[in-house]
Amino acid sequence: MRSLLITGGAGFIGGNFVHHWVRTHPEDRVVVLDALTYAGNRATLGPLEASGRIAFVHGDVRDGPLVDTVLADHDIDTLVHFAAESHVDRSILGPEAFVHTNVLGTQVLLDASRRAWCKDGEWRPGVRFHQISTDEVYGSLGQADPPFTERTPYAPNSPYAASKAAADHLVRASVHTHGLPASITNCSNNYGPYQFPEKLIPLVIVNILEGQSLPIYGDGLQIRDWLYVEDHCVAIEGVLCADAVGSTYNVGGRAERTNLEIVMSLCSLLDARFEADPTLAERFPRCPSGRPGMKAAGLIQHVRDRPGHDRRYAMDGTRIAAALGFSPSETLDSGLAKTADWYLSHEEWWRAVMDGSYRHWIARQYGSRDA
Ligand code: NAD
Ligand code: TYD
Repeated sequence: MRSLLITGGAGFIGGNFVHHWVRTHPEDRVVVLDALTYAGNRATLGPLEASGRIAFVHGDVRDGPLVDTVLADHDIDTLVHFAAESHVDRSILGPEAFVHTNVLGTQVLLDASRRAWCKDGEWRPGVRFHQISTDEVYGSLGQADPPFTERTPYAPNSPYAASKAAADHLVRASVHTHGLPASITNCSNNYGPYQFPEKLIPLVIVNILEGQSLPIYGDGLQIRDWLYVEDHCVAIEGVLCADAVGSTYNVGGRAERTNLEIVMSLCSLLDARFEADPTLAERFPRCPSGRPGMKAAGLIQHVRDRPGHDRRYAMDGTRIAAALGFSPSETLDSGLAKTADWYLSHEEWWRAVMDGSYRHWIARQYGSRDA
């Protein structure tokens, strides 16, 4: 039996991971530590908390004494570190918060893990610190470049990516200097249930349903490698269950698409759902998909590009496939369909997160962003 601490477990990927782990390892204890920033939502974990399957601690990863207490009280042997400021656009407007949470927060967790798990230079057997990182630390690829491997040098371009790169380096340094039993996964863009609608895919889904414009930065030909979030959870589980101390694995979706292709796919998907089910037009009266002669794609609007926008990301998943047998189960089509259906059937979840601070963000980010 393991005792896991999941930081950022009320966020998108952390929340999916908590659900996944409780389902696949029912004998383990799971504790979530989350500051419940704008991106954290306790409702994501509601049924698991109510049934006593997990413990929730409302707190900040930068709070060393709190982390010490949680590690000791719950006898944690596995720390999976998701908590972060995660949105590139917000990092462009305000980088400092990214340094505080992503860099300092990671170091606080590393120090607390060492205090809890290392006595007189000896590490307790079986403990693990797992760092959740991103493909964005590698910088941007040209059209003809091969995908990023674990040997690609770090070259982060946005403040978000730089803060994640710094955190990864601190984990690596702790492995090298202190012998911390740690592993790292660098993953490509995720999508799926419980994603905050500031990121491209959920933003486009809710904007189609609300009849709002679909903002495409620049020419929309930037490429991302999309991975369904449940597949990411399976990859992390594989690394945690393997003898992977000191290892780094790249995780990708084998699904490179331009942003325009993603948005067009979502438009077609929702048009088809509305055509098949006339009750959707009653539930979402502002959605063009439900109106005669109209299509969701009519909402597409090109807006000013993101400063320093990385052109292409792609991950080479050879190492994790060879070492752990991991490859994604969902195709992009099946994953997007599951995601759109989840947002159609969880309207109360996304309406609840689109509060005053969300509307303020949307107005600030898109208010005067004409192409
Ligand atoms: P998210 O923004 O949805 O969730 C982040 C969570 O961390 C929230 O619940 C928030 O409340 C919590 N948090 C933020 N600051 C905190 C602090 N100081 N103390 C405690 N909790 C805090 O993020 P996400 O998309 O789920 O990403 C999770 C992790 O995965 C991040 O480390 C991110 O860098 C990484 N990642 C994300 C993607 C992606 O496509 N979303 C891809 C690769 C890697
Ligand atoms: P995003 O979901 O913010 O993830 P990341 O920046 O971490 O890759 O954005 C995915 C891509 O979509 C990225 O190239 C920026 C683009 N994008 C838009 O064109 N319009 C938008 O409104 C948003 C949020 C993103």
